[in-house]
Amino acid sequence: MNPQDYSHVDVCQRALTDENVFNNFKRDSNYCSVLEHVTVTLARKYFELLKERFGSVISKINWVLIKENDSIGNPVTAEFSTELKSYVALSNYKFSPSIFRYVYTGLDIIDKYLRKVTGSTVIDLYNDNLQHHIEIDIVEIGGGYGGQAKILFDLLANTGLTIRTYTIIDLCYVSQLQNKILTKLCYDKMKYMTYDMIVNLELDTLLPHYDLLISNYGLGELRIEIIEKYLETVVKRCQHYYIIYNGRTIHSYFINDKNQSEPDKNCL
Ligand SMILES: C[S@@+](CC[C@H](N)C(=O)[O-])C[C@H]1O[C@@H](n2cnc3c(N)ncnc32)[C@H](O)[C@@H]1O
Repeated sequence: MNPQDYSHVDVCQRALTDENVFNNFKRDSNYCSVLEHVTVTLARKYFELLKERFGSVISKINWVLIKENDSIGNPVTAEFSTELKSYVALSNYKFSPSIFRYVYTGLDIIDKYLRKVTGSTVIDLYNDNLQHHIEIDIVEIGGGYGGQAKILFDLLANTGLTIRTYTIIDLCYVSQLQNKILTKLCYDKMKYMTYDMIVNLELDTLLPHYDLLISNYGLGELRIEIIEKYLETVVKRCQHYYIIYNGRTIHSYFINDKNQSEPDKNCL
């Protein structure tokens, strides 16, 4: 990501103190150039993927809790009754398209993590078929407004997989906005860190070990020297990685080489 791509930071800064900006930030064109730009067509494709891979889970998801994500920042919403009506009864089916990306990606993260660590699937999880209760610590680099974090907590509510702590690292004002939103929505297992803390090696908030690193359209798109700073400070503490990146070759550290010499270097 280049500095000119950071138009959302100014919106985040203003949303911290100006309630009018906070109440509408998901409609701000500067914000939408970086985040909250999933189209309805793309959302429908995510729903198709949801049906294909996790069809039996859709009716078990708490869509009311997930919909709460749209109560923040006044996102543009669209009608998804054709998709959802046969799975769940809701008072209305208007959702922001981004929610479908977060739900699909969230289930994909959980499914890949469970397969890797326990051999079970997200379907086993929702059918209460995990052998043991699992608790995990997650760190996310570049968390937007915290939407993926919120929806992961919602997808895992009352299941056999619990998030013990969830740390998000982001730019200063973006991080403060994440804190404002997720505190308002009562997610209390969060820790927030800024990129400046990483650069200045103020690492006391970091845990010595994370079960899972998530970075979607984040780490993979940063400049190489920033990625390397994260490798030294954060990534080396993480056992498993889930990274989505666009248009760029991922750093060789993350290439899932079957002959790798480090046995605990695991891309999901
Ligand atoms: C395209 S957004 C993706 C957000 C989120 N992962 C999602 O899927 O909705 C990129 C995120 O990376 C953050 N970011 C940019 N530079 C960063 C840095 N040096 N360290 C951590 N996060 C950074 C941005 O503020 C933003 O939250």
